[in-house]
Amino acid sequence: MASQDALRYTRIPVAHGSGAAPAVGFGTLIPDPVVTKEATGTALQVGFRHLDCAERYRNEEAVGAAIQEAFKAGTLAREDLFVTTKLWNTNHRPERVKPAFEASLRRLQVDYADCYIIHTPFAFRPGEEFHPTDAQGKVAYDTGVTLLDTWRALERLVDDGRCRSIGLSDISLEKLREIVSAARIKPAMLQVESHPYLPEWELLEFCREHGIILQAFAALGHAMEPRLLDDPVITGIAKRVGKTPAQVALAWAVQRGSAFLTTSTNPSRIRENFDISALPADALQEIRDHIKTNVRFNAVVETGVPGFIPRTPQNGR
Ligand SMILES: NC(=O)c1ccc[n+]([C@@H]2O[C@H](COP(=O)([O-])OP(=O)(O)OC[C@H]3O[C@@H](n4cnc5c(N)ncnc54)[C@H](OP(=O)(O)O)[C@@H]3O)[C@@H](O)[C@H]2O)c1
Repeated sequence: MASQDALRYTRIPVAHGSGAAPAVGFGTLIPDPVVTKEATGTALQVGFRHLDCAERYRNEEAVGAAIQEAFKAGTLAREDLFVTTKLWNTNHRPERVKPAFEASLRRLQVDYADCYIIHTPFAFRPGEEFHPTDAQGKVAYDTGVTLLDTWRALERLVDDGRCRSIGLSDISLEKLREIVSAARIKPAMLQVESHPYLPEWELLEFCREHGIILQAFAALGHAMEPRLLDDPVITGIAKRVGKTPAQVALAWAVQRGSAFLTTSTNPSRIRENFDISALPADALQEIRDHIKTNVRFNAVVETGVPGFIPRTPQNGR
């Protein structure tokens, strides 16, 4: 049905920037560069038009190569694509922001970024090492720079014209409020973990009020325990509407007004994750009312060190 299928082409206007961001996004957090290129190429072929990248993923070249192949094949033009990349924690010092941004654009082989995001609000000791540590082996933070200093440097990138919008990630509502009130150029995008086990309704409401796109990562629960895709509410709805549990979780994300990122290296799952259709209103309500599990899978918000938390019987996770 045409109106249902339109869900996958949803675009959310970028209130603080230009254009519109496809709500359906493909994340490129894939360790192997060869696999990254293949998966990104498949994602573009099946219809994904929003790519999420980061200098820390160390694979921007592979993503860039996949984009170039699509351009050469004539299947895609730059303006069809929304490319986001992220500033890593070791580059928060204002003088490091522009070089880091330009290096990302070079690796991605694009002239501009649709969105540039501060990967986490935690500044690490500047340098080439992505995860600097002190003498005790603990994370070496940089106390000589504030998040607002870094934000001001991102604002200047927008002024320069090669960055169309800027955003934040892994930040609390409290810190987000501070940046929103101080910013000359407001955040366009907020990338945070979110799925039916971590709906972040309060953040979503704040974003809605302030014209910020909430972009959910780990939209499928990162295939971790407790498995969102085995949740009886999700599987029950999937059976009823003739879609897969993943498609139910992703449709829910778009229909409640957020954008999402999902990642797969498996071509049929990449297609499945694009092939979403609108759920009936009662299914959306059922997810809201009947899912009681509340889990955060990624601890990055606490320390700035990304990582999905392994769940073992010992730590009860
Ligand atoms: N800002 C941040 O700090 C941050 C942190 C984490 C992630 N991210 C971004 O968000 C993106 C997505 O995050 P994520 O990888 O956690 O997302 P996710 O899609 O929730 O999890 C990916 C996992 O789910 C599996 N999967 C994918 N599609 C599936 C399907 N249809 N059915 C069953 N299993 C499926 C994948 O396995 P297969 O590959 O085997 O299909 C993979 O193990 C990342 O690539 C990155 O761009 C940002």
